[in-house]
Amino acid sequence: MTHQLLKGKRGIIFGALDAASIAWKTAEAVHEAGGTFVLTNAPVALRMGTINELGEKTNAPIIPADATNTEDLNQLIDQAVEQLGGKLDFVLHSIGMSINVRKGKHYTDLNYDWLTKGWDVSAVSFHKLMQALYKKDAMNEWGSIVALSYIAAQRTFPNYNDMADNKAYLESIARSFGYFFGKEKKVRVNTISQSPTLTTAGKGVKGLNGFLRYAEKTAPLGNATASECADYTVMLFSDYTRKVTLQNLFHDGGFSFVGVSQDIIDELDELDETAS
Ligand SMILES: NC(=O)c1ccc[n+]([C@@H]2O[C@H](COP(=O)([O-])OP(=O)(O)OC[C@H]3O[C@@H](n4cnc5c(N)ncnc54)[C@H](O)[C@@H]3O)[C@@H](O)[C@H]2O)c1
Repeated sequence: MTHQLLKGKRGIIFGALDAASIAWKTAEAVHEAGGTFVLTNAPVALRMGTINELGEKTNAPIIPADATNTEDLNQLIDQAVEQLGGKLDFVLHSIGMSINVRKGKHYTDLNYDWLTKGWDVSAVSFHKLMQALYKKDAMNEWGSIVALSYIAAQRTFPNYNDMADNKAYLESIARSFGYFFGKEKKVRVNTISQSPTLTTAGKGVKGLNGFLRYAEKTAPLGNATASECADYTVMLFSDYTRKVTLQNLFHDGGFSFVGVSQDIIDELDELDETAS
């Protein structure tokens, strides 16, 4: 898509680790739509990932910041405003991590130090980021802030573990902070609840492949890809969605509102027939 929907707009994109990352695809789409931005990630991720390639491709400076560290966030915002030449119009929070998921700790046996760390990275960092932007008055009026979520915030997906709770908290922060950002600064805040997607974070969830197929068969339009999520984010950053705020927007091919799909019923019936 080559519409210059974001021409003249400036922003920050968090969370591009490698070419599979949703944030990576979003950076490419925002660049194509005419937006300019700073790329950021945790210092350790910058060392491990391939973000320099993306920086060159999209003419974006790269500034390290641990999203749980308020000092890092303050410096990042100051440098972004200075390097981009003005206040910001868009910010993408595309950050998630659970040590309990990574280490295969069951939800009924959680390690609470790991839980606290994952909650800070995946949810509280969104509050820290918005508080820093708000206090610095770093967003332009009618700016747009987006974070990425998952439907496990509303419904039970057993293997999603403590990330489900983190996403519920993240979505609540979007509504709570979004109120003040809207009222005081005319800035919108939304979360996009994306289909399961094969990325580094996605692969951490046990049984993801089976689950991807299940979601694909349930959603009438099929799973939404990372690139499609990027296009949706471009729209949310654009002036075409100026009055959309405090929303959790499902971007999942319709998965969230299907009770059961006929494809899956048919498959179960077939299994029954084969067994009898
Ligand atoms: N992949 C999926 O199935 C899926 C579905 C719905 C929502 N999401 C959400 O999308 C977002 C992006 O994830 P992704 O799937 O692109 O995976 P990803 O692994 O590519 O991205 C996660 C990013 O979080 C960054 N990060 C971790 N700790 C950080 C910290 N302390 N400070 C700054 N950055 C930090 C990582 O370095 C990485 O770039 C996450 O919020 C994830 O929960 C993913």
